[in-house]
Amino acid sequence: MKTVVGVFFGGRSTEHEISIISANQAINAFNPDKYEIVPIYISKEGRWYTGPELLTLSNYKDMASLTARAQEVYMRPIYGDFNLYSVRRPLFGKDIVKTLDVAVPVLHGTNVEDGKFEGVLETIGLPYAGCSTLASANGMDKITMKMILRAEGIPVVDYIWCTDRQWATERDAVIERVEKELGYPVIVKPADLGSSIGIGAAHDRSQLITRLDEAARFSRRLIVEHMVEQLREINCSVLGDADEFETSVLEEPIKADEILSYGDKYMAGGMHAAQKRIPAELPDALAAECRRLAAETFRVLSCHGVSRVDLIIDDATGRAYVNEINTIPGSLSYYLWEAGGVTFEQLMDRLVKLALKRRRDTEGKTLTFSGNIFAMGGGAKGGIKK
Ligand SMILES: Nc1ncnc2c1ncn2[C@@H]1O[C@H](COP(=O)(O)OP(=O)(O)O)[C@@H](O)[C@H]1O
Ligand SMILES: [Mg+2]
Repeated sequence: MKTVVGVFFGGRSTEHEISIISANQAINAFNPDKYEIVPIYISKEGRWYTGPELLTLSNYKDMASLTARAQEVYMRPIYGDFNLYSVRRPLFGKDIVKTLDVAVPVLHGTNVEDGKFEGVLETIGLPYAGCSTLASANGMDKITMKMILRAEGIPVVDYIWCTDRQWATERDAVIERVEKELGYPVIVKPADLGSSIGIGAAHDRSQLITRLDEAARFSRRLIVEHMVEQLREINCSVLGDADEFETSVLEEPIKADEILSYGDKYMAGGMHAAQKRIPAELPDALAAECRRLAAETFRVLSCHGVSRVDLIIDDATGRAYVNEINTIPGSLSYYLWEAGGVTFEQLMDRLVKLALKRRRDTEGKTLTFSGNIFAMGGGAKGGIKK
């Protein structure tokens, strides 16, 4: 019997299109003798679709006609119900389209890579590949992530943060903190987006104001970071779970501009257009440090599956910092594993096995105590102590 794998992609995210490409690559990488792949496309409106027409990238040029042709489906938020149901109920026969064994989310960005989608899968109880709700949420929010890493002794650049409300009502205080604690230049970011959206450098106060106004259009949480001027960016993928994980070879993305932009990353001819050097050319000690920091980041955030940790090297000092983690990286970082001898097919195999292992690991945990307080004569009489 083949394992039925639901590959979820798209979603209500600014990285919708990138996710379609990543998922298409992943779907093609699975060994068809072992797995039956069910593509599940989440539209920009948040509706779910399945069908063979979702497997062809050129069909996404006209998303409205694609979703009109595809079959709209849903899952019920009921623990243990792994069925995919058809929205349009057939006159005769069952409305169950497929029963999934495991889910592989290949979703990037807000609403999907941040634990919200993983929470749906947790509620249903369907085993899934990749980070838990907790790790996903911690990894997505650049403020929370940096707080955790810093508390665990992992180097991150200096930063301050505020809410959009604070920026609207206490502008002078925010500016003062930036100037006192960081000094220019700084990088301003919305805390929970990706793909460089809403991110910009500020070299003086007026640019800072413009940048914070811009970032506040995208997010309620804003972060201002010390800008590393002599910057080298190094990425390292980590694969495994909290018990056992390994790091990939390093890559160095090459950017055209001050900030590696959405355009650099994706526009000039697809995802592979972004120039990168694999393996990155670094002195051995620095390369080892980058891999150590990537592994530590994965461990400290309790990651699972395949992540990519992006590091910043300050060429002026030779120091490495963790910039961010992508808990569902573009192309699932397969090219970094391939460079180290793990094929894309083996990578997908590992992700499914890890998903099933986590299910076994958590199944043994006690969820409810055997006593029923009502049966024991308890209840609300004495008030509820929590
Ligand atoms: N502290 C920093 N100093 C210098 N450049 C930075 C800094 N933080 C980010 N950048 C630049 O901005 C890009 C996007 O920032 P990043 O934090 O990776 O956000 P995203 O989640 O959008 O990828 C980075 O790839 C890098 O080129
Ligand atoms: Mg980045």
